[in-house]
Amino acid sequence: MKIRKVGVIGAGSMGSGIVQKIAQEGITAVMVDVKEEFVQKGMENIKKTLSKAVERGIFTQEQTKEILGRIKGTTEIKDVKDTDLVIEAVFEDMNVKKNLFKDLDKICEEETVFASNTSSFSITELASSINRGDRFLGLHFFYHPAMNRLLEIIPGRDTSQDTISLAELFSRLTGKIAIHVKDAPGFAVNRFFVPWLNEATRLLEEGVANVPTIDDTAKKVFKIGMGPFELMNVTGIPIAYHSTIGLAEKLDDFYLHSNCLKNQFEKRENWDVSGEVDATKAKMVEERLLATVFTVACTLLEEDVASIEDIDRGAKVGLRWALGPFEIMNKYGIKHSYEIVTDFVEKYPKLKIPSLLKKQYESKKEWSFNYVDLKIKDNIARITINRPEAMNAINEEVISQLDRQFTIADKNPNVKAIVLEGAGKAFIAGADIQYFIKKIKENKIDDICRFTRYGHTVLNKIDASEKPVIAKLDGLALGGGAEIALAADIIIATKKGSIGFPETGIGIYPGLGGTQRTTQYIGKELAKYLIFTGKILDAENAQSIGLVEYVVSPEEIDSKISELVNTGKLLKKSGKQMVKLPEEFEKIKEYFSDNNLQDVLSGGGELNELGKKISKTISYKAPIAIKLANQIIDEGSHLNLNDGLELELSHLLEIFSTQDALEGLNSVVMRRRPTFTGK
Ligand SMILES: NC(=O)c1ccc[n+]([C@@H]2O[C@H](COP(=O)([O-])OP(=O)(O)OC[C@H]3O[C@@H](n4cnc5c(N)ncnc54)[C@H](O)[C@@H]3O)[C@@H](O)[C@H]2O)c1
Repeated sequence: MKIRKVGVIGAGSMGSGIVQKIAQEGITAVMVDVKEEFVQKGMENIKKTLSKAVERGIFTQEQTKEILGRIKGTTEIKDVKDTDLVIEAVFEDMNVKKNLFKDLDKICEEETVFASNTSSFSITELASSINRGDRFLGLHFFYHPAMNRLLEIIPGRDTSQDTISLAELFSRLTGKIAIHVKDAPGFAVNRFFVPWLNEATRLLEEGVANVPTIDDTAKKVFKIGMGPFELMNVTGIPIAYHSTIGLAEKLDDFYLHSNCLKNQFEKRENWDVSGEVDATKAKMVEERLLATVFTVACTLLEEDVASIEDIDRGAKVGLRWALGPFEIMNKYGIKHSYEIVTDFVEKYPKLKIPSLLKKQYESKKEWSFNYVDLKIKDNIARITINRPEAMNAINEEVISQLDRQFTIADKNPNVKAIVLEGAGKAFIAGADIQYFIKKIKENKIDDICRFTRYGHTVLNKIDASEKPVIAKLDGLALGGGAEIALAADIIIATKKGSIGFPETGIGIYPGLGGTQRTTQYIGKELAKYLIFTGKILDAENAQSIGLVEYVVSPEEIDSKISELVNTGKLLKKSGKQMVKLPEEFEKIKEYFSDNNLQDVLSGGGELNELGKKISKTISYKAPIAIKLANQIIDEGSHLNLNDGLELELSHLLEIFSTQDALEGLNSVVMRRRPTFTGK
């Protein structure tokens, strides 16, 4: 399975954005439109967005040249003949789309997979126009496709598992967060987003509140930058209007536009968002908007269109809401949520209380979420940390679910090896910082110590399992993520994999075994280098010092894992051999030796340029964290792993009680540089 070249048909607002994203990620893209002027317009769109990215320091001029060099704009549809995937983004017209797919079916090679970015048509129906229904699916992007990270993956009736896997690979290669959705009207996100917009217009029509009050309330409740009216003004009232008609045709009248939305569409004018906010109306607006979302989200779940996690993820990633519908229900309480839905459905004869919501209400329990998935195939258990919207950050719930899933996999006699991986862009980018801040502020540092000790037992289980455990490092592994990866027997990475310990830069030290396992594997000098500087090593550098065993391409990583497991080459603790260090790391090792360490820490002595740079980096870190990490690494280097881990745990209360720990953790949330005082 490979994705080297992708064709995109349609160079409009979606097509050109999809092409840009593909090319940004190093994949060749062919962008097709019917007329040269449309192709050129698409190219101009891409250039404009890229030049803004240069202004914001996201890309260099050189990089944008490379990106543009990977795009071929053309009016010749046959230019997509040898692509691995073709994504259709033409007008939302069933006949236009079907005719296009018929042509593509004749032109493209046998193995090319087709995808449609349709917002409203059935994937199964679109697939009926071609002879490769097994290699056809929906890939629904969100505006702007180069920036919005959500991707709905929608299989049709005949879509094969291989095609879904290719879509997942595409999603990984392009840094998208994919959610899996059934071929249902509005798929997952538009099914509740469109009624949410529509309900706002009904509130206006009924005179419940004016536009600014509705927008202001929505912004506060969903924690978003724009309210429904402001959003419609930006994305287009026609899209909202047509979407309500599309949904109502396939579902029922509840989804049909209000008269006021229709009038506004016919007037071809934007909403007037001026006026005063009337706070006395906020509660009514809040309840109606929430009830709309709760009702539809529960119905989606009941119809098995998407999982509870994916529905929430769709709202958070695609719409940038702070919480998804189910998380919001938990926040307001299931009882309250059930009550407002009960009032709401009385207004609309076509609606009823979703039975799942009723069941949840009767159970008196909150919705629960799976953050760690387990799949067993071909004797390999894959444990996926699945919180891509939070870069898979660990917290109490994630660790406890990891424990549960790992134990199941470990006990299963059919499982020959266990793979740990992260969904989306990251492996695991650390721990939930907010949790630590909350506990420190509540004076409950004991809870942090208990949580960390529990984390140690889970990592020790991974370490001690009789089965080989592989960390699949296809993204960032920071802090707790790096520590989980190091508890595995080997690490297999792609070039996107990287590993680092940022803790001393935020006032603490690695507390989940990082000071000890790193020391055992690469020696105390390089462990100190990584922990004191927070340097993030890319996969190849990590391999050069012996932290990572294999670096392979993203397309090959799964087959490499299967090969290692099936050929019996992968034994328990077969990794982490001492390697011959590259010259640069030999030098670094010397700096961090007992003889030279003080110079690097103080910036004194005879340091060359590299030494001075390292010393300067360390000077920005929290002094107590550096001092404690140094002490724990030194003492731990004489102990066995278990005693070393106990030692690491024994200083947690001390480090989390420092002012610098709170300062460092707060600095992450507030996105500012910390100022450490050494207290
Ligand atoms: N705009 C959004 O926010 C959004 C979001 C998700 C999905 N979509 C879907 O994406 C698709 C495209 O939407 P858009 O907003 O980019 O539309 P658009 O009107 O901006 O662009 C469509 C482009 O397709 C070209 N085209 C039409 N027929 C063609 C053909 N046979 N061959 C090659 N090119 C052809 C047109 O010339 C035009 O440049 C639609 O199906 C839409 O429902 C849109």
